[in-house]
Amino acid sequence: MAVRDTASLLVGLVVLLHTWGAWADVEVNMEDRVEVLRGNKGNISCMFKSDEGIGGIIIEWFYLMPTGEKKQIFYQDATKKLVLRDRISVSGSVADGEVILTIDNVQLQDELEFICEIKDLVGGKAEGSTKLRVFETPQPPTIEAVSTGISVNENQPSKIGMCEVKNGYPKPNITWYRNNMPLRSSKDVSVIHRTTVESSGLFSVKSELSKEVTKEDKDAQFYCEASYFVPWGTGMRETNTINITVYYPPTAVRVWVESPKGKIKEGDSIEFHCEGNGNSPSSLLSIWHEGVEHVVENNVCVLRNVTRLHSGIYRCTSLDMETIEEISETMELSVNYLDPAVVEPNNAIVVAQGEDLEATCNALSSLKTNTAWFKNGKEVLQGHTLNLKNASFDTAGTYVCVVTVPEIKGMETSATFQVDVKGPPKIIEPDNTEVEESFENSVDLSCVVRGFPAPSITWSTADGKVLKESSQTVTDEGVEGVVKVKVTSDITVVCTASNEYGTDQLTFSIKATKHTTTPATTTTTTTTTPATTTTTTTTTTTTTTTSTTNTTTTTIASSTVKAETANPTKKKKEGSGVVIAVIIICILLLAILGSVLYFLYKTGRICGRSGKEDLTKEKSNKDNIVVEMKSDNTEEAILLGVNGEKQPSSDQGGDYLDVKK
Ligand SMILES: *[C@@H]1O[C@H](CO)[C@@H](O)[C@H](O)[C@H]1NC(C)=O
Ligand SMILES: *[C@@H]1O[C@H](CO)[C@@H](O)[C@H](O)[C@H]1NC(C)=O
Ligand SMILES: *[C@@H]1O[C@H](CO)[C@@H](O)[C@H](O)[C@H]1NC(C)=O
Ligand SMILES: *[C@@H]1O[C@H](CO)[C@@H](O)[C@H](O)[C@H]1NC(C)=O
Ligand SMILES: *[C@@H]1O[C@H](CO)[C@@H](O)[C@H](O)[C@H]1NC(C)=O
Ligand SMILES: *[C@@H]1O[C@H](CO)[C@@H](O)[C@H](O)[C@H]1NC(C)=O
Repeated sequence: MAVRDTASLLVGLVVLLHTWGAWADVEVNMEDRVEVLRGNKGNISCMFKSDEGIGGIIIEWFYLMPTGEKKQIFYQDATKKLVLRDRISVSGSVADGEVILTIDNVQLQDELEFICEIKDLVGGKAEGSTKLRVFETPQPPTIEAVSTGISVNENQPSKIGMCEVKNGYPKPNITWYRNNMPLRSSKDVSVIHRTTVESSGLFSVKSELSKEVTKEDKDAQFYCEASYFVPWGTGMRETNTINITVYYPPTAVRVWVESPKGKIKEGDSIEFHCEGNGNSPSSLLSIWHEGVEHVVENNVCVLRNVTRLHSGIYRCTSLDMETIEEISETMELSVNYLDPAVVEPNNAIVVAQGEDLEATCNALSSLKTNTAWFKNGKEVLQGHTLNLKNASFDTAGTYVCVVTVPEIKGMETSATFQVDVKGPPKIIEPDNTEVEESFENSVDLSCVVRGFPAPSITWSTADGKVLKESSQTVTDEGVEGVVKVKVTSDITVVCTASNEYGTDQLTFSIKATKHTTTPATTTTTTTTTPATTTTTTTTTTTTTTTSTTNTTTTTIASSTVKAETANPTKKKKEGSGVVIAVIIICILLLAILGSVLYFLYKTGRICGRSGKEDLTKEKSNKDNIVVEMKSDNTEEAILLGVNGEKQPSSDQGGDYLDVKK
C-alpha cells in the first residue's frame, strides 16, 4: 500500500516538475468556503504548485479551533501518511497538484476553518484555508391563529397568531404576511421572535404576531414564511393562511317589519327586525316605543295581538357597552283598525206601510271602507245609507250591513238592522189548500203570515172548534203557525191571523181517503157477537157510522201535508184492548139476557114471545150502540194521545153520547 502510494506520488511529482518547473516557491489554491448539508460528505480541495518539483512535498491538514489554536488532522510526506481524526480521508495525488480532504457525515461541529499546508524540500512553504459551512433544512413551519375574536376597540396590538419553524441550521428567519404583504414591526404591529437552540445545536424560532385590528382584518389572510440558508442559496416555505374573528360595532342599524307584509291590522302579530351591520358582542340591540323597551333576540322582536295603541314610532338602537356609543334608526308603524259597525237608528225601526225610511251604517276605521247592505243573503245596495221608499211588507225583514276594508283582506265588521212594517196580517197563500190524506194519518198544516205587530194565529174547525197549535215561529216578516190534524174524516180547518190592524183567514180542506184496513172494531164485534138477529143489526149500524162519514160538515185543507202513519204496534195493542172489552161486555149481556130469560121463565111470562122479543131487540140495540161509542172513544183517545191535543167534547163521540141518552 505504502509502496504504491509512494510510487504514485513520485509519478505526480515528475509531472509537476515537468509542468511548473520554472518556479521555486510553493503556491496553494483553495476555495474560501465549502457549504454542505449536515450528514453529507464534505470535500475540501487543496491545489498546489512547487518550483522544486514534487520530490519532497509534505502535505498537512489542520483545522482552526475556536480558540485560534491549529490542530493537525493529517500528515503525508514521501514516506508516510497519517490520519489523525476519524471521519476524514484525503484523496488526490501530489502529481496532480491537488489533494481533497473528505469529511464523512458532516456534523454541526465540523463547521470549522480547514487549513492545507504544503512544504517542499528546499524550504518552500505555503498554506491555504477553506471554511466549512454546515446547513440543516428546518421542518416545515407551522401557524396557529388565536381562537378568540378580537374587538376593533382594543387600543393596543392583540395577538393574531403564532408561527414556529423547528430544527434549522443556521438560524432560520420567520416573516409574517398579511394578504401577501410582509408585516414589519411598527406602531400597530409587533412581531416578536424567540430563538431556541436545541440540544442538537439546531435552531428553532417562534414568532408571535400582534396587531391592532381594524374591521378590514376580518377578511385578511395571514400567513408566515420561513426562510433558511441551504448550500449555495436560500430556501423558504410558507404556512397555510389563517383568518381571525374581528368584532366591530355597527356603524348603522336597520329596522323593519318582516311580517306581516303589507298593511297591519289589529290582532296581527308583528315581527320586527332590528339589525346592525356590526358583529360586536358588546353591542346590545333593543327596540323602543314610547319609552318602553322591547327585547330583541337574534335581531328579532315579536309583538303579539297588536292594537291601534301599538301604532307609532319604533326606534331600533345599538348600544356599544365598550364605547357607550349608541346608534339608532326609527320607523313608523301604523296598526289599522275597524271598529264594530253601528247602525242608526238603533238597529231596528218600525214603519207604517207607504212610509219611507232611512238608516245609516258606520264603522270607524283607519282606512277607507266599503259598506254594503244585504237582505236574505242578497246584496240590496252599496253605501252606508239605506234608503227605502214606500215601505211594504216586502220591505220588512232583517238587513245586514257589512263594512269591509278593501286594502286588507279579511278585515270586516257587520251589524243587523230590523225593519218592521206595521200593517194587518196577510196570510201567504200556499200552493195547495186541498189535501187528501188517509184515515188515521196526521197532516201538518202551516200558516205563514206577514204583518206587524206579529199577528196571533188561531186554528179552528169549520164548526168553531179551536185546535191547539203545535208550534209557532216568529219570522222576520211575521209569524208561522203549524197545527197537526189527525184525519178521521173530511175536515175543514181555518187559520185566523190577527193583530191590531186587522185579520186574515185561510181555509184548508182535508179529504179523508179510504183506508185499506178498515177499523178493527167492526171485525171484532162481528166475531164475538153470537149470530143472532139482534147482533146482525148492531153490526150494520156500526159499519154505517164509521164508513159513510156522516160528518160532512168538517173538511180540512192544508198546504203542507205531512202524512203521519199511526204507530202500528200501539194501535194493535189498543185494538186487542177493545176486543177484550167487547168480549166482556158481550158476556155480561149474555148473562143479563140469560137472567132475564130465566126471570121470565120463572114468572111464567115465557109464553108471551113477541113482547119479550121486542124488549130484547131494543135493549141489545142500545147496548150495541154503547159498545160502538166506547170503541170509538177509545180510538179518539189514541188519536189524542198521538197528537197531544185534547178535544174533550163536541166530536162524533158527543153525537153517540146523545144517542145513548
Ligand atoms: C467528494 O470526494 C469524493 C471522493 O474523493 C467523491 O466521491 C465525492 O463525490 C465528492 N463529493 C462532492 C460533493 O464533490
Ligand atoms: C435572517 O435575518 C437576518 C437579519 O435580518 C439576515 O441577516 C439573514 O440573512 C436572514 N436569513 C435569511 C435566511 O434570510
Ligand atoms: C376564513 O375566512 C374564510 C372566508 O374568507 C372562511 O370560509 C373561513 O371559515 C375562515 N376561517 C376561519 C378560521 O375563520
Ligand atoms: C287580543 O287583544 C284583544 C284586546 O286587547 C283581546 O280582546 C283578545 O282576546 C286578544 N286576543 C288574543 C288571541 O290574545
Ligand atoms: C206604494 O206602493 C204601493 C204598492 O205597494 C203602490 O200601489 C203605490 O202606488 C206606491 N206609492 C208610491 C208613492 O210609489
Ligand atoms: C148525521 O148527523 C147529523 C147531525 O150531525 C144528524 O142530524 C143526522 O141525522 C145524521 N145522519 C145519519 C145518517 O146518521
